[in-house]
Amino acid sequence: MSSLLDVTGVWKSFEEQPVLRGIDLRVDAHQAVVLIGASGSGKSTLLRCINGLEAVDAGRIVLDGEVEVSDPRVDLDQVRRRVGIVFQSYNLFPHMTVLDNITLAPRKVSRVPADQARQEALVLLERFGLEAKAGDYPDRLSGGQAQRVAIVRALAMQPELMLFDEITSALDPLLVGEVLEAVRELTSGGLTIVMATHEMAFARDVADRVCFLRDGIVWEEGPPEAVFNEPQRPETREFLARVLT
Ligand SMILES: Nc1ncnc2c1ncn2[C@@H]1O[C@H](COP(=O)(O)OP(=O)(O)OP(=O)(O)O)[C@@H](O)[C@H]1O
Ligand SMILES: [Mg+2]
Repeated sequence: MSSLLDVTGVWKSFEEQPVLRGIDLRVDAHQAVVLIGASGSGKSTLLRCINGLEAVDAGRIVLDGEVEVSDPRVDLDQVRRRVGIVFQSYNLFPHMTVLDNITLAPRKVSRVPADQARQEALVLLERFGLEAKAGDYPDRLSGGQAQRVAIVRALAMQPELMLFDEITSALDPLLVGEVLEAVRELTSGGLTIVMATHEMAFARDVADRVCFLRDGIVWEEGPPEAVFNEPQRPETREFLARVLT
């Protein structure tokens, strides 16, 4: 059986500096995979390659055994319908209400009728405790609310795979918890997720698998208990000692 995401031997350089040097990553449906690693180790680059925001130099990225994201001829709209991504900065459209932010892509890209898009958005907002915010503009939201709206906006496209890139790192520490709670709700709901995070406690808590990136490869990976409690390689131990203190 093929997995939901198959990354094989992916290379990516910027200005001749290799950042990804043969990344292999396999993600089965309903798994939550967490990427950890030092700043600059390529976590964001890998996520951006997975949804086609960056072209790879070599290797393959295949979604669901059928869509080859790494093929230059791939239909990127199709990739982005199937793979949602949320960044550190929420990038909500400031001149649109929360509801319009959420329904825009389903209406324009997936041609969902306006009424249906609105109904589905309201269901999602309620699931994340945001129903009272539907008519508000983004500048009326707290950082935690804005990030949860950004997650809802990505979910509204019904992606098979969700990518989260340090979605809590721009937040006031007091607001981190509510966003992590939203992610926990998604993992327990069975959504397939790949996320980069510096929140090690959270990684340990929600990940089915943790991948430690170093020198452009997956240096060590395994279930969180194994990677955090009994890392096999000295570099993994050093990294964890540094970030866990
Ligand atoms: N568009 C770009 N042009 C040039 N260099 C880039 C570009 N994007 C990333 N890089 C470089 O690639 C390397 C990996 O960056 P990346 O953002 O993927 O790391 P990261 O693991 O996400 O780090 P962080 O934990 O700080 O978010 C860095 O050296 C970065 O400067
Ligand atoms: Mg990053």
